[in-house]
Amino acid sequence: MSPDAAAPHVPVLLDEVIAALAIVPGEIHVDGTFGAGGYTRAILDKGAAKVFAFDRDPEAIRYGEALAASSGGRLALVPERFSRMRQALAARDVSEVDGVTLDIGVSSMQLDQAGRGFSFQSDGPLDMRMGSEGPSAADFLNNASEEEIADVLYHYGEEPKSRRIARAIVAGRPVERTGQLAEIVRKAVGYRPGQKKDPATRTFQAIRIHLNEELQELEGGLEAAEQVLKPGGRLAVVTFHSLEDRMVKRFLRQRSGDVPAGSRHLPERSEPRLRPSFEAVARPVRAGEAETNANPRARSATLRVARRTAASPWKEGTPA
Ligand SMILES: C[S@@+](CC[C@H](N)C(=O)[O-])C[C@H]1O[C@@H](n2cnc3c(N)ncnc32)[C@H](O)[C@@H]1O
Repeated sequence: MSPDAAAPHVPVLLDEVIAALAIVPGEIHVDGTFGAGGYTRAILDKGAAKVFAFDRDPEAIRYGEALAASSGGRLALVPERFSRMRQALAARDVSEVDGVTLDIGVSSMQLDQAGRGFSFQSDGPLDMRMGSEGPSAADFLNNASEEEIADVLYHYGEEPKSRRIARAIVAGRPVERTGQLAEIVRKAVGYRPGQKKDPATRTFQAIRIHLNEELQELEGGLEAAEQVLKPGGRLAVVTFHSLEDRMVKRFLRQRSGDVPAGSRHLPERSEPRLRPSFEAVARPVRAGEAETNANPRARSATLRVARRTAASPWKEGTPA
């Protein structure tokens, strides 16, 4: 992918994210999901002294090199998972930052490249890895048991017909191409051409989330943000489906002390009550009509923001 690749990623809720970050010139920020650098560019434009921009995808990092080179040392690209934010910052002699932004999921650049295997819009190898490590989607689908596949579709795709689809996948092995997988799913659940939502959508989402451990990453990213944000530091998180939004909502509710009595999210009764580590948790923000008309990806986006208090993080980070 060249930096000039067609169809660049259009940042979602950009104005709202930048407003929530309330950047003061001279501050240090983390963009946990660099992608095509939409947020990073805007954070630099607001006068941040330094942005540490993470991405686990080596192609996104390569894409950002031109911007880093022209930033006068203000942009540092970090080829790491954002769950390792604290360790990666410590390795760069940084222990606290003023803002952390996470824009969860895949970029348009990843989706639009058939060779990455994220999309069934064009046929490609079943890869779906954001980074270069771990098994591909084909490895998973050709080796996992029917039950394992069904569980992934059910939990990460909220797919009600998970068992039927898993059976069809196992019967259709070897499954090597995105087009082939989409056809297997459509046949298994019944698909009328022109139907609004392609039934393969949930299956692709589920496999991608599983392979890239996206929910574990989100949990680790939120905890890492709690560890690196200084008192008064801002957290902004954009998610694209309900599983992720629920995690962010619960995390901020819990950490701000807004936990209903008797909730399983409360610390054990015998433990001392922890002081809220976040405050000023804002209502969720969704894209307006103009943005969703211009960028359909924005339709499912939810932004949640909060401010770090001076309390200790609820979970200490593991050593580097
Ligand atoms: C939705 S895009 C971000 C777009 C970006 N905000 C922009 O304006 O261009 C998400 C990016 O985050 C990266 N990513 C997803 N999960 C990650 C993780 N756990 N750690 C680091 N990068 C991750 C993906 O590789 C992708 O490039």
